[in-house]
Amino acid sequence: MLLELRGVSRRFGGLQAVADLSMTVARSAIHGLIGPNGAGKSTVFNLITGVIPLTTGQIFFKGDRTSGLRPSEICRRGIARTFQATTLFREYTVLQNVLVAAHLAAAPGLASALFWSRAYREREQRARERGQALLDGLGLGSVAGRVAGTLPHRDQKALALAMVLATGAELVILDEPMAGLAEQEKAETTSVLRRLRGDGVTVLLVEHDMKAVMGVCDTVTVLDHGLRIAEGTPREIQTNPAVIEAYLGAEEPGA
Ligand SMILES: Nc1ncnc2c1ncn2[C@@H]1O[C@H](COP(=O)(O)OP(=O)(O)OP(=O)(O)O)[C@@H](O)[C@H]1O
Ligand SMILES: [Mg+2]
Repeated sequence: MLLELRGVSRRFGGLQAVADLSMTVARSAIHGLIGPNGAGKSTVFNLITGVIPLTTGQIFFKGDRTSGLRPSEICRRGIARTFQATTLFREYTVLQNVLVAAHLAAAPGLASALFWSRAYREREQRARERGQALLDGLGLGSVAGRVAGTLPHRDQKALALAMVLATGAELVILDEPMAGLAEQEKAETTSVLRRLRGDGVTVLLVEHDMKAVMGVCDTVTVLDHGLRIAEGTPREIQTNPAVIEAYLGAEEPGA
């Protein structure tokens, strides 16, 4: 297994946002985390990536404990994420956004940058080539030079994904990558996720679009009021009475 949560809890004042959650994410899987609004999904992502501290429990990545580490250290170890609200450097070009993401993960030596060494220039050139190839693969190749803030919504979503991939992370955590996308764009995102899995990248996914979740995930974990109420294959989840109950009045868990 790649990621393990052991008895993870998080309180916000009197609110138990995540309650004694244990779950594992298998390597090279697409693992969905679903649940009604306020179930605690984004909080789980914030706990895994170290953005907020755990109230109780432990998190392990590749067998090493990561809970308690700083977000930058967790990212360096191979976990990267997108946020539910897309966060881009809006005034930078598309390619610059990808390069920044790659640099933040690699943290190249400041000294070599200051002296503008040959090795540094070559590394920069390679990074640009890799960045361009990544953008090509996500259908953003032709807009690499555009200022990110001027892109249409679907391209901004794709760019957020490109930035996560640019870090070279083994575990990619995506918060609602399909939100606001048209059917065709969702299908494209789905095929990108499958391609990632084929490349050995593990995906942990929060997504409200049940058709997309059920179509792409190998395993689905369901949260409700911070509690894990079910886990299984999409087929098992769609017929699970507790899941259907949790979604009543909220939305349909599938179809
Ligand atoms: N920083 C915070 N401070 C206080 N309460 C918070 C904080 N973050 C989340 N919460 C609360 O914790 C609960 C879980 O929120 P969370 O954002 O994890 O839900 P979610 O499952 O991602 O919901 P959605 O599907 O709407 O994105 C909610 O009741 C929310 O209001
Ligand atoms: Mg959320």
